Amino acid sequence: MPFGVIYFAIMPTSDLGLDKTLAALGITQPDKIALRFAKIRVHFEGQFQTVYGESEWKLFRDTWLGRKSGVLTQITDNWLKPATPELKRAVGAALNELRAHVEAKIEERRLAIESGAEESSLARERVDLSLPGIHRPIGSHHLIRQVFQEIEDIFFSIGFSIVEGPEIETPYYNFEALNIPEFHPVRDDMDTFYLELPPSSDKNTAKTPLLLRTHTSPMQIRTMEKQKPPVRVIVPGKVYRRDNPDATHSFAFHQIEGLAVDTDITFCDFTGTIEYFVKQFFGPSVKTRFRPSYFPFTEPSVEFDVSCPFCGGTGTATSGGTCSKCKGAAWIELFGAGMVDPAVYGFVNYDAKKVSGFAFGIGIDRLAMLKYGIDDIQVFFQNDVRFLRQFP
Ligand code: FA5
Repeated sequence: MPFGVIYFAIMPTSDLGLDKTLAALGITQPDKIALRFAKIRVHFEGQFQTVYGESEWKLFRDTWLGRKSGVLTQITDNWLKPATPELKRAVGAALNELRAHVEAKIEERRLAIESGAEESSLARERVDLSLPGIHRPIGSHHLIRQVFQEIEDIFFSIGFSIVEGPEIETPYYNFEALNIPEFHPVRDDMDTFYLELPPSSDKNTAKTPLLLRTHTSPMQIRTMEKQKPPVRVIVPGKVYRRDNPDATHSFAFHQIEGLAVDTDITFCDFTGTIEYFVKQFFGPSVKTRFRPSYFPFTEPSVEFDVSCPFCGGTGTATSGGTCSKCKGAAWIELFGAGMVDPAVYGFVNYDAKKVSGFAFGIGIDRLAMLKYGIDDIQVFFQNDVRFLRQFP
């Protein structure tokens, strides 16, 4: 409170004559002492009324009890010590009484200030349970991440495990070990981004070009190199191609690779696994079919189609017109797959006579578009919250 400071200023203790001896003040008789001390007491009470805050209290305490120049010290030094024997007794008694009063009052005010501060801090910290809470917006997984999770859970439940691999690959893993030699026409469909590397003095790495992987299939090779059969893995991840963006193409997109290799895996295991996955993902009413296809690393190779979940596999929309999703075909192409080509086993030192297996590669973005009725792949990458919020 600033009032205390102002009050101190207009009532200086210098008015009390403390810097002079009693003789200098013209006091020679003991009966005058009481009046002097009464004046001091009035002065004290006046200041006392103005002390509310901690800093004022400290100033007040030092003004009165300060060892060097406090009021009581000045009385002792200037009045009591040089007093004549007749005055000394009266001054000493009055001083003791004043000291007891001043000390008691100062302590009383300290306690009051402390408990006041405690009360106000308690008031500040009190929790008002009736106030509305603070709304903190919570983010959610991107739809692509959610679809990954759905697919991972399905394959997890039938004994597949998840592995991840590098997005930067060598041509060997991305192409050659997958039975795609240099100048193979399939490389045209998988044109990608090559990395310009700083010159290296290391002979082994200097000549190895690096590229952004065009599919998750290189992880088939990396997994089989590390692990003997049985192998049952899925590989979620990001892949890249030099494709021009349009409603169904992006230069960066997502795939899940699947690979199962053992001594006795048949084409029936392959179709059964894929059908199980599709029915879990789209619901039990969808129908599936295989069409012959070609991938250099699977033999036979198939494209896997699902009956259009939007028109119920009729090709006709509920409005009576042609279904816009399957364009009236009643089927929608889902992904490529096949039995692992024996030539691939040669690259990973598996005995092609003893082992067999299947592999598949699912384009996640297009699968998500299909399931959730999204007609432009670009919305996955634009981060427009109006889109993202529809999939909390
Ligand atoms: C492959 O990438 C093979 N590796 C798949 C495979 C794995 C076959 C194992 C056999 C065994 P393909 O090039 O068809 O196949 O791509 C697979 C899926 O990726 C496509 O069905 C499609 O859904 C998706 N896709 C391909 N290019 C793009 C693109 N530019 N943008 C978005 N999705 C794409």
